[in-house]
Amino acid sequence: MTFLHNLLVTILLLGLLCTLGRAAAVDLSLEQHQDRAAASKEEKRDWWQVAQFYQIYPRSFKDSDGDGVGDIQGIISKLDYLKEIGVTATWLSPIFTSPMVDFGYDISDFFDIQPEYGTLDDFDQLVAEAKKRNIKIILDFVPNHSSDENEWFKKSVKREKGYEDYYMWHDGYVNSNTGQREPPSNWLSGFRGSAWEWNEKRQQYYLHQFAVKQPDLNYRNPLVVAQMKRVLTYWLDRGVAGFRMDAVAWCFESLPDANGRYPDEPLSGTTDDPDNEAYLKHIHTQDLRETVEMVFQWKTLLDDYQRVHGGDTRIIMVETYSELDYVMQFYGNRTAKGAEIPFNFQFIVGGNGVKDNTKLPAGGFVKIINSWLGQMPSGKTANWVMGNHDRSRVGTRFGEDRIDLMNMLQMFLPGVSITYQGEELGMTDLDISWEDSRDPAGCNSNADIYDQFSRDPVRTPFHWSNEANAGFSTSSSTWLPINPNYQTINVKTENASTTSHLSLYKQLTQLRQLKTLQLGATRYANVGDNVLAIKRSLSGEATLVLVANVLETKVTGVDVAGPLYASGNYKIKVSNPQAKATVGDSVTLSSLTLEPYAALILESV
Ligand code: NOJ
Ligand code: MG
Repeated sequence: MTFLHNLLVTILLLGLLCTLGRAAAVDLSLEQHQDRAAASKEEKRDWWQVAQFYQIYPRSFKDSDGDGVGDIQGIISKLDYLKEIGVTATWLSPIFTSPMVDFGYDISDFFDIQPEYGTLDDFDQLVAEAKKRNIKIILDFVPNHSSDENEWFKKSVKREKGYEDYYMWHDGYVNSNTGQREPPSNWLSGFRGSAWEWNEKRQQYYLHQFAVKQPDLNYRNPLVVAQMKRVLTYWLDRGVAGFRMDAVAWCFESLPDANGRYPDEPLSGTTDDPDNEAYLKHIHTQDLRETVEMVFQWKTLLDDYQRVHGGDTRIIMVETYSELDYVMQFYGNRTAKGAEIPFNFQFIVGGNGVKDNTKLPAGGFVKIINSWLGQMPSGKTANWVMGNHDRSRVGTRFGEDRIDLMNMLQMFLPGVSITYQGEELGMTDLDISWEDSRDPAGCNSNADIYDQFSRDPVRTPFHWSNEANAGFSTSSSTWLPINPNYQTINVKTENASTTSHLSLYKQLTQLRQLKTLQLGATRYANVGDNVLAIKRSLSGEATLVLVANVLETKVTGVDVAGPLYASGNYKIKVSNPQAKATVGDSVTLSSLTLEPYAALILESV
């Protein structure tokens, strides 16, 4: 009797707990996100947590020697610009020796600089000049593959001692029906077609998850692991503040079975184009646990380096477009330190997809924000990446009317802000003809479909002025065409206007100095489809509120005071031109009028 009674009580209690748990979860994940912890003014922030990061794509930033290609001296000549707009750290896409098949992501010498870009002396000068301006230099580390013109690969082809297993080699199979040679598995390259290439000399296939000229290194070989650690140490010795780590998810592949056969990947069902990498579900070639452990080893190396040589924290930024539960693993765990910044690509992959978010309603924005803040392990720092050299520009993806709004959002949200060069100006994608196309992701397809894959439209040269070649180069032609909208969208013109994207950007990087934005708690909500509202608060400091009408219809009488738990009087601190508002004017949080695409940052008085 007592036993049965106890059992019954237990079952009832469990049921109750489950219901409560579910109710709480729903509350959290929907329209607003509770402050996770009371923010405190006493908390300390490391340099990177309050940094304004800026991605430079060196080929397209500034050409100093008139060959139509950006270079290191070009970057040095523009460090003052970075300083002026409030950038405190910059990560450079690869500048290492490369045949430029994938524009530097195919490295033939990890220890030297691509001659087009300069020399090691130029690089040392860059670090020194940046340091004078308190700007940190972060390099791109490309661990997954090298160029086939790298010494390591040439030695591996010849099976030179120590290099035999540097890469992923396999005999493949001879089809007994056709007598034809076939690759070891159905794995696909990110740049179309089989990920296996036959090498005549070695008489074996090698794996390349990207271009044919980008053979995958074999991370199950301790010699490779040691070699790549030497690469990290070499650039640390030259003064870098950390690394952006490329294509990390691809480093390890599943092991072959007892017969030496690599497992095929299952069909994804999302496309019927068998050459498109999306044709398969990458359960054997991406997102392996071993890869996460490898990043932990690299973090240990960086921390050990700091312990021995002193200086500031050396950081890791991880590039992976994986599912969030995998991305979050890179933050580390109780026993291992991980990356400071596993890139948050939710504004790139979330919403309506990667290409068109121009109609995304406020609820969509909240969902994107919540996806990261809701899943990030506690005690970690968030980061916000709106774009990069691989994805459509913000103005093209989210709409030109939302360019300021997106910059405001990125700087207002808690944590690290990362800008891709040109986003501060509001640069947009440029349609590039098949003839002018350079990117292997596009060029490996055909004239009919290349524009679905090519990343050239987001890599066009930076606009410095309204002069010839947008002030990028004195050459008669540039490596990619220049967007004709440089006439109005450029540093010189925008600097002269108080209402330009650039002027607003500069105000925002200034604003990020406020303790409330660096340390404050965060609450956010959408009010209908139009309005996104975010509150940042810190005891003893003025509260800040961002309100944005993300759609093209005007709204009146909007109450954000209730959803944000905000009261009192507010005045306008920052506004975009669409808001048609005056800085300093008072506003009533419980009854706002917002013009189409208006975005305001308000401060409590
Ligand atoms: C990611 C880089 O961002 C991209 O540009 C490159 O093509 C691939 N990794 C391969 O390295
Ligand atoms: Mg040049």
